[in-house]
Amino acid sequence: MHVAVQAPEVLTASKVKLCYGATVAVDDASLSVRRGEVIAITGQSGSGKSSLLYCLAGVLPVSAGEVWFEGSLLEELDDEELCALRRERFGFVFQYGELLPELTVEENTALPLRLAGRRKGEALALAGDVLRRLGLDSVRDRRPSQVSGGQSQRVAVARALIHRPGVVFADEPTGSLDSANANTVLEEFLMLARAQGTAVVLVTHDKAVAARADTRYVMSDGVLVREVDS
Ligand SMILES: Nc1ncnc2c1ncn2[C@@H]1O[C@H](COP(=O)(O)OP(=O)(O)OP(=O)(O)O)[C@@H](O)[C@H]1O
Ligand SMILES: [Mg+2]
Repeated sequence: MHVAVQAPEVLTASKVKLCYGATVAVDDASLSVRRGEVIAITGQSGSGKSSLLYCLAGVLPVSAGEVWFEGSLLEELDDEELCALRRERFGFVFQYGELLPELTVEENTALPLRLAGRRKGEALALAGDVLRRLGLDSVRDRRPSQVSGGQSQRVAVARALIHRPGVVFADEPTGSLDSANANTVLEEFLMLARAQGTAVVLVTHDKAVAARADTRYVMSDGVLVREVDS
């Protein structure tokens, strides 16, 4: 759709396998994502989508295969380097937003910048800007328990993108929303990601959501297959 075919690859997985004991959750999965590209992974419950995402994001070590991010092989990084990479170059959106309840909307949004060492005033000012873009200015001083489900998802989107990560991993980012709200949140998410060249790996059950991506994959019993557009 929007992505330049020649944009550089930011994340590449080659023959990734993940086993939980005797269960093979991911079986020789290979994919690559370019700068600004949005890829969607669909598939039935239990097919291995979240497991693959955890491998790509360095949350779980692969049982076999390789994951490369911007020239680094994740497996070769030590814990400190991997944590720094996840904190500074990756963004995450989860199914239920997972905001910190004791922080305000604005503080939640600013968190990745604070963890990267930015000064509080500067981080909050940038958070304020992103929240304004997402129409959340009026709720910036509230706690997550005092905002709606859709607002909470948009805060999660703001937080995932604020530090301009190389890639955002989103596992059913609109899973808890009705379809109208899901659409709005998704549009904003993709618009912001594309505007700053962030690659997006989007896991979804929803074919309509997947249709918005540049590239689609389907997972079935741990096997990942790229869909060819007809
Ligand atoms: N921690 C674990 N220990 C053992 N087996 C697991 C674990 N997590 C997941 N599994 C199994 O691995 C397989 C893949 O699970 P995964 O969570 O990746 O699926 P999914 O495609 O994300 O499903 P859903 O759409 O329901 O979120 C399933 O058979 C699941 O039961
Ligand atoms: Mg899952």
